[in-house]
Amino acid sequence: MVNIFLENDNINVKVPNTKSLRYVATKTGASMEFGCRVGDCLTCVARVKSGMEFLNKKNDKEIKALEILAMNVEGLRLMCQCNVEADEGEIVISYGF
Ligand code: FES
Repeated sequence: MVNIFLENDNINVKVPNTKSLRYVATKTGASMEFGCRVGDCLTCVARVKSGMEFLNKKNDKEIKALEILAMNVEGLRLMCQCNVEADEGEIVISYGF
């Protein structure tokens, strides 16, 4: 299981491989917001402060969407496009900016 810390809500949760971050947010009641849920609206942008290596790689659509932001996108991900891809690890995520 991968331990995910949702910093803004002080939620710590253990998540199995392949689970989506959208599922995690919904199940834990985190205040992370979602809009389109398909990588178009940027509502769910969040910063992965550590543990990026335990998530799936960005696809072309996510990369293009994040390029619209006029800020350093290092560490940013669209939570609706993220899945856990590891059996163990630690991920810290902040959001709501
Ligand atoms: S909810 Fe729209 S990009 Fe993630």
